[in-house]
Amino acid sequence: MTSTVPTARQSGIASATAAALAGASERGHEPVLVEPVLQAVVDAVARVGPRSMVVDATFGCGGYTRGLLAATGEETKVLGIDRDASMEIHAAPLAERHPERLAFACAPFSTITSLELSAPVAAVVFDLGLNSAALDDPARGFSFRPTHDGPLDMRMSPQAGGETAADLVARMPELELSALFTDLGGERPRLAARIAQALVAAREAGAAPTTTQELASLVARIKGSKARRKRDHHPATLVFQALRMAVNHEMDELRAGLAGARDVLADGGALVVVSYHSGEDGVVKRFLRSSRSATPPHKHSFGGPTPGAKSITAPRAEAATNPRARSARLRVGIRDRSN
Ligand SMILES: C[S@@+](CC[C@H](N)C(=O)[O-])C[C@H]1O[C@@H](n2cnc3c(N)ncnc32)[C@H](O)[C@@H]1O
Repeated sequence: MTSTVPTARQSGIASATAAALAGASERGHEPVLVEPVLQAVVDAVARVGPRSMVVDATFGCGGYTRGLLAATGEETKVLGIDRDASMEIHAAPLAERHPERLAFACAPFSTITSLELSAPVAAVVFDLGLNSAALDDPARGFSFRPTHDGPLDMRMSPQAGGETAADLVARMPELELSALFTDLGGERPRLAARIAQALVAAREAGAAPTTTQELASLVARIKGSKARRKRDHHPATLVFQALRMAVNHEMDELRAGLAGARDVLADGGALVVVSYHSGEDGVVKRFLRSSRSATPPHKHSFGGPTPGAKSITAPRAEAATNPRARSARLRVGIRDRSN
């Protein structure tokens, strides 16, 4: 006979999920796939032991961290990392409430191995991409929406300097721009080439786009209104994604972040990654499959018969209420240090 009464473990995850989601709309970001993420972490803490720590490598508005603090016990610490200094306002009140348990580091997650990790690491969680609060701030220059016109910036950590999206479109050769739109955005090669050509023509005429609307309009002119009808998203979606990824070196960050997580995870610890497009997911999948120890007999770094083979997507109900959940894909690898 099957029972419909939830076990203590299930109800613990359910209430931690509720804690992660409470107040999310006021903070400006509704986290996705919270329940399976928390479940993977709780299982990892059970394997590694309660006197361990969990790294939320993409703290954002702190939704996951709230859930992690609620799902794990008082002995388990949490380190939140975000390269965006403006996210610290979400960490400060939480750290005040949990002074012994929560720390925040403003850093790129590629530097995880150089951060202070005060206990065995039971899990490293990545929720890739941009948070909705940054997307909705016109001054950050991430959005193609006409109501959100702003400087063509797109830096996740403007405090660290570096090139903006406007700098890239002003200096990159036409062929490189075209390859960027195809490789990082998934734009069709013929359209990518025409957009790159139009950008170069605009800058030769002294009119390179410097605002989000100037770029969005240029791309929409090339792709036409058919693109919007056919693919059900703004014609500039893929170009904006490609530029954001290039400005923030997102693929290099991801590869370095995954390798760093592998190096810091304790035996039995979990690498937990939520990605939002096939380029990112492919990197995660290949990493979980092929990552091996540096010393003979070069065993797989992650356990299971085919690590990386299985992924979890959002249930229909979540995708219906949270648009970000529609493209989200979760993969979990269990660190195996037995050589
Ligand atoms: C999708 S949001 C995370 C949302 C978070 N899970 C929550 O519940 O609020 C991704 C966050 O990761 C940060 N981020 C992206 N790439 C990063 C990197 N390489 N290093 C550190 N933080 C990064 C972004 O600034 C953003 O705040």
